[in-house]
Amino acid sequence: MPPHAITASQKRIETPSSAVPSKPRTKEYDDSLFEHAGWIYAFCREHLFRDDTKRMITALWPNGGPAPGTRLVELGCGPGFYACELAERFKDILITGVDRSERQLKRARERAHVRGLTNCCFKRVNALRLSEEDTSFHIVIASRLFTILPEPNRAIDEMYRVLKPGGRCFVAEPRFAFWASIPLFAMWLLARVTHSRNGYREPQHAAVFSTSAFETLFAGQPWKRRTIWKDGRYQYALCEKP
Ligand SMILES: C[S@@+](CC[C@H](N)C(=O)[O-])C[C@H]1O[C@@H](n2cnc3c(N)ncnc32)[C@H](O)[C@@H]1O
Repeated sequence: MPPHAITASQKRIETPSSAVPSKPRTKEYDDSLFEHAGWIYAFCREHLFRDDTKRMITALWPNGGPAPGTRLVELGCGPGFYACELAERFKDILITGVDRSERQLKRARERAHVRGLTNCCFKRVNALRLSEEDTSFHIVIASRLFTILPEPNRAIDEMYRVLKPGGRCFVAEPRFAFWASIPLFAMWLLARVTHSRNGYREPQHAAVFSTSAFETLFAGQPWKRRTIWKDGRYQYALCEKP
């Protein structure tokens, strides 16, 4: 099987959006703003946030693109912005986007479908308990995930676990709570107005790391190389597993 071929289990995951229940009634579903007001996030992602695709590519593959067959996972992929951008630019790599929100995954699958992408798939998986085996991926990326994730250290542990030896992770996080909280604020507002509820799992304000806390986040694993840098409103980490 060619390295980028979609496996049977991934095919199951890539169920056409029309076949995915549009509104699963589970506690998980009811609890998340990304289900009830997720279009706001998707709008912000598309039109307001910085597009780090080029920065990601330059950091991860400074000497050219990825090798054919590279396996990349995006944690908390949301509407699939980066997963699809990378899948479109590099047709011979295989990308998996994981997210907890079925609504966001539906958007991601639609985005991939509209672009005719066959080298990416999207799965509903908790980034804190990835279903993938150890050393499954060459690359892990995560963008803006930690703004809402309660246990960031566990996510980094998972990143390290699923990376192959020599694999790398790229993490992009906003630096300023005010700007990072705008989509959350708008989602909370819409959810309150339309659902009269107040029990979503997401925080009201985005969590952002100070420079030192961001560095400390990556200090728990024996990375071979760790590069942390800031650029305007964002901070980045690029780490390599021995
Ligand atoms: C702020 S959005 C970031 C989306 C995307 N990475 C981007 O760059 O815009 C965070 C995403 O993480 C997802 N998420 C939150 N907790 C998660 C978890 N434990 N496991 C997987 N995804 C999670 C949310 O559903 C949401 O789509």
